[in-house]
Amino acid sequence: MARHEGQASGTALTTGEHDSGGGRWRATSATGDLAIPEARRYIRRSNFPILSGVQNSSMIEVANLSKRYGELAAVRDASFTAPKGQILGFLGPNGAGKTTTMRIITGFLPATSGTVRVEGFDVFTQSSEVRRRIGYLPESPPLYNDMTVAGYLRFVAKLKGMARGALAGALDRVLETCGLTGVRDRLLGHLSKGFRQRVGLAQALIHDPPVLILDEPTIGLDPRQIIEIRSLIKTLGGKRTVVLSTHILPEVSQVCDKVVIINDGRIVVEDQLANLTRGRALEDVFIEAISRDTGDGARAAAATET
Ligand SMILES: Nc1ncnc2c1ncn2[C@@H]1O[C@H](COP(=O)(O)OP(=O)(O)O)[C@@H](O)[C@H]1O
Ligand SMILES: [Mg+2]
Repeated sequence: MARHEGQASGTALTTGEHDSGGGRWRATSATGDLAIPEARRYIRRSNFPILSGVQNSSMIEVANLSKRYGELAAVRDASFTAPKGQILGFLGPNGAGKTTTMRIITGFLPATSGTVRVEGFDVFTQSSEVRRRIGYLPESPPLYNDMTVAGYLRFVAKLKGMARGALAGALDRVLETCGLTGVRDRLLGHLSKGFRQRVGLAQALIHDPPVLILDEPTIGLDPRQIIEIRSLIKTLGGKRTVVLSTHILPEVSQVCDKVVIINDGRIVVEDQLANLTRGRALEDVFIEAISRDTGDGARAAAATET
């Protein structure tokens, strides 16, 4: 229930309508008599999910997605959804198809077949609408060592086509969110891996997207850095929809609302974390899911070994 409320306000906060609608709401509330019809109009305009009847709570919809690299079927007929305002843990052994799926969702890689929609927009035919809504932290973000933190984030913002007027405010906001204010003039090449990863998150967040796609964001970090990045990701959820790939299971238990497990290109589990772990450890769920015989288990095992 708490999640639902967070979801509703998170959605409203990301739309411009909230500001004007919110202002109007306060003004008419003050006059009293117009408050109720005005409230109804505001609710309809802002697609307030619980009351408007819109109820389209999936921010990302992946349907029958397949990707081949030549002979290799890396993703096979994958379907799942990421609910608005939730953190989705995308799990699977190495080589299962996580990065491939995430690159397709972000529009960086074309699919062989199937569809992906982000807030209803098709990633293939409406890619600019989708990119505007998505922040992406790839496996190894291209950080230029001779740029300063602020300089790099300004550079990324320009690449994303952000208006000059919006830039200074956006920059201060992400520096603050990601705990980078104190190192804003430091060269990227002089930062620790944990701080570099914060910069990776900051570049994904600079245009304030409602969706974040994070590909193994804690890989290669030390335990303290992992905890810091993990809690940062947790604070980013609620308002945003996050897809987080990892094979660190405690990370999922601590951070995620929903779990999708991919094995050898196929989605083998899709459920809320709370349902999956009722009376069972997530580790057991994971091991069982990836060792289920799909007819090509040997291939999956071979891929995991490499
Ligand atoms: N550009 C590529 N060309 C050919 N094969 C690839 C390419 N990228 C990934 N693969 C293969 O596709 C499969 C899925 O890879 P990937 O999506 O990176 O998995 P994960 O992120 O789960 O480790 C693996 O077998 C990998 O070797
Ligand atoms: Mg990967």
